[in-house]
Amino acid sequence: MRAESLKNAVVIAIFLLSFKEGAAADLTRGHSIAVRWCSECHMVAPGQGHGSDAVPTFAEIKASDRLDEAQLTAFLSAPEHSRMPNLSLTRAEIADLVAYIKAQRKVGRNSGD
Ligand code: HEC
Repeated sequence: MRAESLKNAVVIAIFLLSFKEGAAADLTRGHSIAVRWCSECHMVAPGQGHGSDAVPTFAEIKASDRLDEAQLTAFLSAPEHSRMPNLSLTRAEIADLVAYIKAQRKVGRNSGD
């Protein structure tokens, strides 16, 4: 029946779309993970207003260029020998966070943007 096969096509399309979304690093997800898990210590976005002075902001981490994507991924997988807690993030969460950090614009601390 035509309607039935159309329905199947829609189901398959939705499945493929959600699969693609799940695979790619996602800035919006990175932002919400950062707000939930990182903002207690880090300034994760301009004008956040809190966070700790002893902890680099995400903009500073991006601006330093000391850590590339691979090094950030390795650090977040196992932040040993660091004052940072290990947050047991999944690989997908780490990919989203790395994309989010790398998308930070070069703004200073408390610039308010
Ligand atoms: C309990 C506080 C705390 C939380 C929560 C936290 N961090 Fe950190 N983070 C730190 C501190 C402190 C440092 C500085 C580490 C050092 O100097 O040894 C740091 C450093 C970093 C660095 C830089 C490492 C380097 O070598 O320069 C990255 C990247 C980072 N954090 C990412 C994150 C991300 C992403 C999250 C959320 C998933 C997060 N942090 C959550 C405290 C925290």
